[in-house]
Amino acid sequence: MRTEQPKTIYLKDYQAPEYLIDETHLTFELFEDHTLVHAQLVMRRNPERVAATGVALPPLVLDGQQLELLSVSLDDVALAPADYVLTDSHLTLQPKAERFVVDSSVRIHPESNTALEGLYKSGGMFCTQCEAEGFRKITYYLDRPDVMSKFTTTLSGEQLKYPVLLSNGNLIASGAEEGGRHWATWEDPFKKPAYLFALVAGDLWCVEDAFTTMSGREVTLRIYVEPENIDKCQHAMDSLKKAMKWDEEVYGREYDLDIFMIVAVNDFNMGAMENKGLNIFNSSCVLARAETATDAAHQRVEGVVAHEYFHNWSGNRVTCRDWFQLSLKEGFTVFRDAEFSADMNSRTVKRIEDVAFLRTNQFAEDAGPMAHPVRPDSFIEISNFYTLTVYEKGAEVLRMIHTLLGAETFRKGSDLYFERHDGQAVTCDDFVKAMEDASGLDLTQFKRWYIQAGTPRLAVSESYDAAAKTYSLTFRQSCPPTPGQKDKQPFVIPVELGLLDGQGRELPLRLQDEEAATGGNRVLSVTEAEQTFTFVDIAEKPLPSLLRGFSAPVRLSFPYDRDQLMFLMQHDTDGFNRWEAGQQLSVQVLQELIGQYQRGEALALDQRLVAALRTVLENEALDQAMVAEMLSLPSEAYLTEISEVADVDAIHAAREFARRQLASALFEPLWKRYQANREQSRQTTYVAEAGHFARRSLQNIALSYLMLSERPEVLAACLEQYDACDNMTERLTALAVLVNSPFAEERAKALAAFAEHFKDNPLVMDQWFSVQAASTQPGGLERVRALMEHPAFNLKNPNKVRALIGAFAGQNLVNFHNADGSGYRFLADIVITLNGFNPQIASRQLAPLTRWRKYDASRQTLMKAELERILASGELSSDVYEVVSKSLA
Ligand code: ARG
Ligand code: ZN
Repeated sequence: MRTEQPKTIYLKDYQAPEYLIDETHLTFELFEDHTLVHAQLVMRRNPERVAATGVALPPLVLDGQQLELLSVSLDDVALAPADYVLTDSHLTLQPKAERFVVDSSVRIHPESNTALEGLYKSGGMFCTQCEAEGFRKITYYLDRPDVMSKFTTTLSGEQLKYPVLLSNGNLIASGAEEGGRHWATWEDPFKKPAYLFALVAGDLWCVEDAFTTMSGREVTLRIYVEPENIDKCQHAMDSLKKAMKWDEEVYGREYDLDIFMIVAVNDFNMGAMENKGLNIFNSSCVLARAETATDAAHQRVEGVVAHEYFHNWSGNRVTCRDWFQLSLKEGFTVFRDAEFSADMNSRTVKRIEDVAFLRTNQFAEDAGPMAHPVRPDSFIEISNFYTLTVYEKGAEVLRMIHTLLGAETFRKGSDLYFERHDGQAVTCDDFVKAMEDASGLDLTQFKRWYIQAGTPRLAVSESYDAAAKTYSLTFRQSCPPTPGQKDKQPFVIPVELGLLDGQGRELPLRLQDEEAATGGNRVLSVTEAEQTFTFVDIAEKPLPSLLRGFSAPVRLSFPYDRDQLMFLMQHDTDGFNRWEAGQQLSVQVLQELIGQYQRGEALALDQRLVAALRTVLENEALDQAMVAEMLSLPSEAYLTEISEVADVDAIHAAREFARRQLASALFEPLWKRYQANREQSRQTTYVAEAGHFARRSLQNIALSYLMLSERPEVLAACLEQYDACDNMTERLTALAVLVNSPFAEERAKALAAFAEHFKDNPLVMDQWFSVQAASTQPGGLERVRALMEHPAFNLKNPNKVRALIGAFAGQNLVNFHNADGSGYRFLADIVITLNGFNPQIASRQLAPLTRWRKYDASRQTLMKAELERILASGELSSDVYEVVSKSLA
């Protein structure tokens, strides 16, 4: 068999398929040492292609990888090897008529599929992951999203081992076979691309509920899990019902099948997958209850359940024409789930979390060697493009459209999009066109957000003319070059802003050529490289509050001084910008400390930061979650991202110094609020709800500061919280704080007790690994190596890899970037090992090494050497090859 080399695929080469598959009939015979897959494809020529291809029937090129072909026939005539061409990735046949039926049988090996793509086993159950190109590892097919087909699926397996047999759509028949086997047939009435196919077989229990849709249809809801997890499904079920209701209310979208199923699996490369009617989830995104999952985990479950559910419209009913359009469904769906979470919890806090995450991680990606547009124009391995750019920046692009159109017009646009394209596979251009048609706006220039990579810089300057009472803001935008894109055209940047007077009141806003003022908050559209807006009737020089709510994913700069930032922290009417002012103040103060450290000077903290945080801490009227957010200093990763050259040790030393100074200066108010909140926690049972999240978040950040004092009463409080709390949020914080403390004995005791108590709960053990992997105390690498030997660790399980290796390389920056290069060598070894059995996970773990340009010359050399060693290590998957070679280019 011929081996085909991985090659670059270009968007500009897109062609519609030569053939279509009207019906797909699949039969799976599941055995312990192999699985047989029989596929019957009812096909016809694509009429759209006849003009381009000519009358003669072109060959039919089916995708297929790692399949053992047992037989193939065309219209019931068995084909001999001479009748087809077989390579390691394609099966090519010659159809004899415009309409025909292809039957094939293949043998596959889910039991030894460690890549977790296609059909594989997780623990004792069979499950699938087909997006993006996993279906070709199941059977020969046109594995591309613009080929949509009606599927029927029959699966059979041993009754005792696999009592539950599931696939997409509705169960239409089932029965027993001799030999202790049984079967079930599922039919999905909706046409779908193969990437939305799913199958599950296992010994699963389910929690069942129901939802009545807005038109009065009754939908059965089921969450399937391994029996020991049946008590951890309620939160996901509640989240699902909330999401279904929200999508009806906010988008007018109703669910379309009679049943909606979620299955939790322990071995999963990503978070979850929106297969039609049968979502398959990483168990970390389903299972949650007070004793085992943190508040953050509860919110993640709520968000991911909603995300996958929302895909039923934004992704499934309307899907992508090709994988370059991935953000069509992912950017839109992340925007939808973010708005859902904002409505369910605190809107401002959700925005703060998302922006901090975007600026730390997506901005870094967009400034690195893998930078690509929201709609990429080429790739080698599509799995590498499930990125922060496609997802999170894609969601920001949708948010900007929402901001520019307003909620009501945006809804008209989404209605038009769903109505116009229901049942189709479409492009980002089609989406934007619907928004243009609904609004009358021309979004031609706006579309640069889809095609230009890189994070724009927006430098703002002001000038005030007291005599004329005018105030002008000048915006200068630019965008650094990214791979393959040297010069950038100006973006459309929506800047939401207000102007504050000396008392912090919003001034009425009237631009020079306007008739009348329009309130104190508005959105300016910056469209040129340099552009000035002049406001009139401004009686005193105002303080601008810019980019409110982070209205565009840009790097904004305005020459605020520290007193102005303190003023904004207290007075800005926009909650997000109050937080942002605090972050900017912290950044200025921390950068000053970093400079002092680098010059070998004594560190001195600007006391204004202490004063500002004291005010926040003593204000009992403020939302406690906001207080917690404002007390959180910018992370080391964020400080790295905004540095020209990141000095790992200086960043760590400066930030730790600031934390200690704050802890000691603010001990009294921190202790007061800690005790008050802990007392409330003691008196209430756990509730997964915004007010409670807020209380615990302030309690926990207070504890982490207080422990820096090393006072005995704080240690006692920490141990009390650890022992007496009723939930993982308090317990894990107490553990993390101990792990980072000098109290070696208490630390060891707590770690051992925790592991003993939770040894049978893999998701909780993930937390236990992460807390230790992220500990910045010296000797981090040795600790991680030792933990890899722990019986609960397993390199084959992606959650474990992320919990230990990912947390070490991504969060423990001082240890990972140890100047001796040991962290880099370790990560490269792991990547080489992972490459051998799970390319997707290998490629993702690589990310920290791709950031080599951020560091000093000596670290750069060490990091590049490891990338080169990976490149030379032998047979590389296309996943790892693409990331390594682009990083070295
Ligand atoms: N569509 C899924 C989601 O965002 C993710 C699938 C990821 N697949 C992959 N090969 N990376 O909900
Ligand atoms: Zn998604």
